[in-house]
Amino acid sequence: MIRSAHKKLFRRSFLFGIAGTAALVALFNSCNDTGTSPYAPSISYKRPGVAGLKDQAIVPDTLIASGSGVINGYSITPPLPAGLTFDTKTGRIYGTGTVLDTPGTLHIVSASGPSGTGTAKVIICVGEPAHVCDTRAPYGPYTQAFVWTKPNVPMTPDTNLFLPLGGRVTDFTISPALPAGLTLNPVNGIISGTPTTVMAAKEFIVSVIGPFGIDSQHVSIAVLDNAFPVRLLEKGVARFQGSCTGCHNSDGKGSPGATPPLFKSDYLMKDKSRLIRIQLLGIPNEADTATTIVVNGESFTSQMSAQMANDSDIAAVLTFERTLLNGATDFISPSLVGHIRDSLLTRCAQIGPNCGWGIDTTH
Ligand code: HEC
Repeated sequence: MIRSAHKKLFRRSFLFGIAGTAALVALFNSCNDTGTSPYAPSISYKRPGVAGLKDQAIVPDTLIASGSGVINGYSITPPLPAGLTFDTKTGRIYGTGTVLDTPGTLHIVSASGPSGTGTAKVIICVGEPAHVCDTRAPYGPYTQAFVWTKPNVPMTPDTNLFLPLGGRVTDFTISPALPAGLTLNPVNGIISGTPTTVMAAKEFIVSVIGPFGIDSQHVSIAVLDNAFPVRLLEKGVARFQGSCTGCHNSDGKGSPGATPPLFKSDYLMKDKSRLIRIQLLGIPNEADTATTIVVNGESFTSQMSAQMANDSDIAAVLTFERTLLNGATDFISPSLVGHIRDSLLTRCAQIGPNCGWGIDTTH
């Protein structure tokens, strides 16, 4: 029984084998019939960072061609440093570098054929003493990932958006497109300009592209109307970064199963009074919920203690979170926080210092 099943299986795979080979041969022949492959060449270097010592022969680097693209010849730009040779027939790089270039230079090698051109990137560095070329993937978050301005007010790029980078970077791209008036500098990643119209906060993803990898950075930008009290945001972002990000994360996205998100949180946006009560009383609290809360469809059964602060601190952090993390265009005033606090006074008397802490009498 078993044997005959095996036999059958063998026969079957054998037949498939023949059919498969026949199909491959047919494919190969049809390619040959037209004379060219329809695909552009696809190439890469075995060692994308070629480190050499000054006045010593490098270990030559050779190209790996993948795919079926036909290649007629190779070119390189910019030209190799003095002493090194590029073989235009094979793409091989060899020789002895005679001029120091420790950080190294990125070269683009093109393989051209009848159906197009393929490119490969290679960094050549010539050092003294032994070293390795920097072929790290880019890395570097924006120092300020939340930015706001007003229509016709220039964004101050140097203080608001500066990207301290590690690794090799060749260019930056952004998605979705920036609003009219703002541009991303493709060389240094700085977003600047003067927006012309109001825009609720929007998250943009900046791709930091290097020859050896891509890093993605998130930037939220809001263009708020002239009446918006941006001082609340200035204070709010500082408080958010100082008091909330330890649990809710620096982007406010929380951690699944443990801490709910403040970024795009339906729960946060639903009710201003509840949002304020949560700061004053913590969560869960008997005024709102004693058990599970559901944020964007996910249940959380953890707890957060009261966030002790005065009315304007609470107004500021909540305004920041609603505006920059959730796209709201209105704000929470310190006096609203004061009213909610007053309405909780009886309760605050019961639960003690957490609730009545730092009452702001200036509103
Ligand atoms: C010690 C960790 C911790 C800190 C610090 C913290 N939170 Fe929370 N926060 C939580 C947890 C955990 C929950 C969910 C509680 C639950 O499951 O009932 C929560 C819930 C929330 C919610 C309601 C749910 C949501 O995601 O919309 C808001 C709003 C909130 N926190 C705002 C803040 C603000 C504002 C700060 C800073 C002033 C802050 N939190 C600081 C842990 C923390």
